[in-house]
Amino acid sequence: TGSAVVAIDGPGGAGKGTISRLIAERLDWHLLDSGALYRLTALAAERRGIDMTDAAALETIARELDVVFVSEGEHTCIMLEGEDVSSDIRNEHVGGLASQVAALQVVREALLARQRDFATSPGLVADGRDMGTVVFPEAPLKIFLTASAEERARRRFDQLRQAGQHASLSSLLKEIEARDARDTQRAVAPLRPAEDAITIDTTELSIPDVVARIEALLSLRG
Ligand code: C5P
Repeated sequence: TGSAVVAIDGPGGAGKGTISRLIAERLDWHLLDSGALYRLTALAAERRGIDMTDAAALETIARELDVVFVSEGEHTCIMLEGEDVSSDIRNEHVGGLASQVAALQVVREALLARQRDFATSPGLVADGRDMGTVVFPEAPLKIFLTASAEERARRRFDQLRQAGQHASLSSLLKEIEARDARDTQRAVAPLRPAEDAITIDTTELSIPDVVARIEALLSLRG
């Protein structure tokens, strides 16, 4: 594609979602939350009683996914078959299922064109695991956002609490570590920085700090 893309990859809970949204707002660019597509595929499959190892059935679901992203200020409303599932997909249960589904090559291929379609004028901020390595390898700016697993578990814990959901910090840490292991060790599109990615460790950084760093990198390249 000819459009400008900023690829933001990294493990779950590193702050990609928030940072990507803020950068997209600043630039007035489109935003792709690619993880939501894997979460939606998993949720739709679970609701239909499909096994997370049934590659053929999962591929069909990924290909036919009827999803609409409606942005409402800070919040993006995610509609699956006309139903608002924005909060239903944001838990570690669905995150875990998503990472199982995401390990299947046929599912990744089914979602590829759909992701590339987001790269339209004036530009796209793409958030995921393989934005810089697979989906947008030509992106002029690639960021790899990380943070320690403990810090990421703490952030998820706070997020869930704010959303009024119960969680245990130690079980969140276990789930995050299991998901990291699955995402980095899988055969297809494993989580890793692109060769030309710039890594930012956010463990000790505030959100505005990270946004400022990325903006500085953008202006260098702009
Ligand atoms: O980013 P998020 O936590 O919503 O992603 C959920 C899961 O989807 C990840 O753990 C990962 O397995 C998968 N994923 C992926 N490739 C992406 C985005 C997400 O494999 N580009």
